[in-house]
Amino acid sequence: MESAAAVVAATDRELDARAMGIRTTPEEQLKMFGAQLYDAIGSAYPATRRTEPRIAARIWDALGDARTVLNVGAGTGSYEPPDRDVTAVEPSAVMRAQRPRGAAPCVAAAAESLPFEDQSFDAAMAVSTVHHWPDPVAGLREMRRVARRVVVFTYDADDTGWRQRFWLTRDYLPEFADLLVGWPSPADLTGAIGGRAEPVLVPWDCNDGFFEAHWRRPEAYLDEHVRRAVSVWTRVGPQAEQRAVSTLREDLFPGRWAERNRHLVALDTAELGLRLLVA
Ligand SMILES: C[S@@+](CC[C@H](N)C(=O)[O-])C[C@H]1O[C@@H](n2cnc3c(N)ncnc32)[C@H](O)[C@@H]1O
Repeated sequence: MESAAAVVAATDRELDARAMGIRTTPEEQLKMFGAQLYDAIGSAYPATRRTEPRIAARIWDALGDARTVLNVGAGTGSYEPPDRDVTAVEPSAVMRAQRPRGAAPCVAAAAESLPFEDQSFDAAMAVSTVHHWPDPVAGLREMRRVARRVVVFTYDADDTGWRQRFWLTRDYLPEFADLLVGWPSPADLTGAIGGRAEPVLVPWDCNDGFFEAHWRRPEAYLDEHVRRAVSVWTRVGPQAEQRAVSTLREDLFPGRWAERNRHLVALDTAELGLRLLVA
């Protein structure tokens, strides 16, 4: 039987989720993937997800002198360069509907089948999206087909070192590793576009609230709004999420977390496996 505290916590979660516009249960969300997942949870995205200027500078620099840019898996439009002719591609209607007024035009399509002629764009970019695609290699080949240059912000699932370095996955959410099973290696990803991978360090005050963003601000992970804007928390399921959050809470307040991770205070950036693929 569930304890009264567990029932209260589940009810609070449900009310919070409804306040963010999420209508499906965590159990229903567990079976979803790709655009379908974002149609279910995407209403919570804009609360904490936005362009991080230091990462944007890397992406825009890698776009070189491209004038026409395709943004694949564009979501709400973060990282779209303001000074180029951008076309967005986004399969989730909920994400498309949240694009700000005046954002680049957006086509409803998936990466694996881009509705454009060969070499239609100077460059194609994809940010924090490739791990949601049912077939990442096919999607990257499509980007290569439609654009002369390709820039992708993603992570290195092969390098297990960073999972050990990141206290959140090491000490609280080991289930994250299960999400990476079957994920293509960096060599497969760069091979699909014929490019190279460069590390992207995460600033301690990262503006875009992706999974690793709060590595020096652990209290942020206690905030439901922060977690609902990151699909990892949905994909591990409500039990793992609640266990991770309550264990972190128990470690934060007596100072156990600070004791174990005190070396982080001196760091301004962290290498947590994020990569820019450039071709
Ligand atoms: C984490 S969001 C990233 C959005 C945006 N690029 C950003 O940086 O904020 C992932 C996006 O990938 C989209 N997506 C899921 N499956 C896709 C597919 N097969 N092709 C293209 N985009 C997809 C989702 O709908 C979602 O909008």
